[in-house]
Amino acid sequence: MRYSALSHLDCPRCGARHDADQVHGTCSCGSPLLARYDLHQVGISPRDIAGRPPDLWRYHELLPVRTAGHVVSLGEGMTPLIPLPRLGRELGVPNLLMKDEGLIPTGTFKARGAAVGVSRAAELGVAAVAMPTNGNAGAAWSVYAARAGMRSLVVMPAAAPAITRAECAAAGAELYLVDGLIGDAGKLVAAAVARRPGYQDTSTLREPYRIEGKKTMGLEIAEQLGWRLPGVIVYPTGGGVGIIGIYKALRELLELGWVSGGLPRLVAVQSTGCAPIVRAFQAGATAAEPWPDPETVAFGITVPNALGDFLILEALYATGGTAVAVTDEALLADQRAVARLEGSFICPEGAACVTAVRQLRESGWLSTSDEVVVLNTGTGLIYPHTVPSGTPVLAPSGSVPPVPAGELRPV
Ligand SMILES: Cc1ncc(COP(=O)(O)O)c(C=O)c1O
Ligand SMILES: [Zn+2]
Repeated sequence: MRYSALSHLDCPRCGARHDADQVHGTCSCGSPLLARYDLHQVGISPRDIAGRPPDLWRYHELLPVRTAGHVVSLGEGMTPLIPLPRLGRELGVPNLLMKDEGLIPTGTFKARGAAVGVSRAAELGVAAVAMPTNGNAGAAWSVYAARAGMRSLVVMPAAAPAITRAECAAAGAELYLVDGLIGDAGKLVAAAVARRPGYQDTSTLREPYRIEGKKTMGLEIAEQLGWRLPGVIVYPTGGGVGIIGIYKALRELLELGWVSGGLPRLVAVQSTGCAPIVRAFQAGATAAEPWPDPETVAFGITVPNALGDFLILEALYATGGTAVAVTDEALLADQRAVARLEGSFICPEGAACVTAVRQLRESGWLSTSDEVVVLNTGTGLIYPHTVPSGTPVLAPSGSVPPVPAGELRPV
């Protein structure tokens, strides 16, 4: 049995077919390319997967790396899918679960795309990877490139989370800040790659394999539920790689016959400060217009102009899903609520999903019987500035105040 069932690359816009064993960016028509597999030749069943190590390479037949020796891994994948019973009760969605990507190397789900993208790039002989980033992807690709012995070039907005810079620098990336947004970083990277032989532009959806890493979130959700799909999956959407990847994974699982029934309704969550996909969805459009002056504390979803807009919208329409915009104020309150009620310090992008669930329950789009999975795409530790603690400072000679009245009760 082959390690990977990868067959070819497919253009979802013009239908062109491309050789998967050549280095590719986008299709000549400008669309992202999608990896396709000989699913009928996969030759394994969920039972075979059950005994494999708990990382995303357990699905290697459905991933693009052709030989096990080319896998570059830091142990990524199989993050917990944990129930949120207290929060669920408060929101009126008792079957609420969170896929917690805060526990993966580098602290965000970007490690999945980086592990698979870097492994496949190395396998195809790419010498160096280059990308614009809102911070987290740059950090992830830098460390995986380091592990692969590959160079990396990263350009990020000056406003991206500072810790991600440190991670890039520590891993030896060639790092630049731009006084602008991710699109400005993208232009600088594209121009640099054109001048640097051996460098590949691995921007979101400008190479075909990052999405394959991210689709493993969908594979894991199905496996962790006992090869069953939830009713709804809620995802913080920037460039949309995660939601497109999850949709792709679920369709592959249906085709393999490993799951049955309807697909979960997919929900794309954005900030009211940058909501191009929400606006397009509400207009019933198949593509999104760029969002002017984007701004949100959920920095990872500050993507005003996504290359895969039509694929995100297709995933929403095809699954009977929806798109929701939430305010920074509401998501920051929910970031605290999750920590207080469930003991998990999640990132603002993940918190946006919780706020979306709150709104969708209030509007009646969600009911009490829905089983809902929210994606927490990263740890809150990357964004310490989002939760100012206002901690009192005591003099060494001072004392801790008495317990406030009414608070001495078991928790
Ligand atoms: C923490 C976090 N969540 C969500 C996203 C959005 O990711 P996607 O490109 O899959 O929409 C990002 C992207 O930077 C991110 O860093
Ligand atoms: Zn095409």
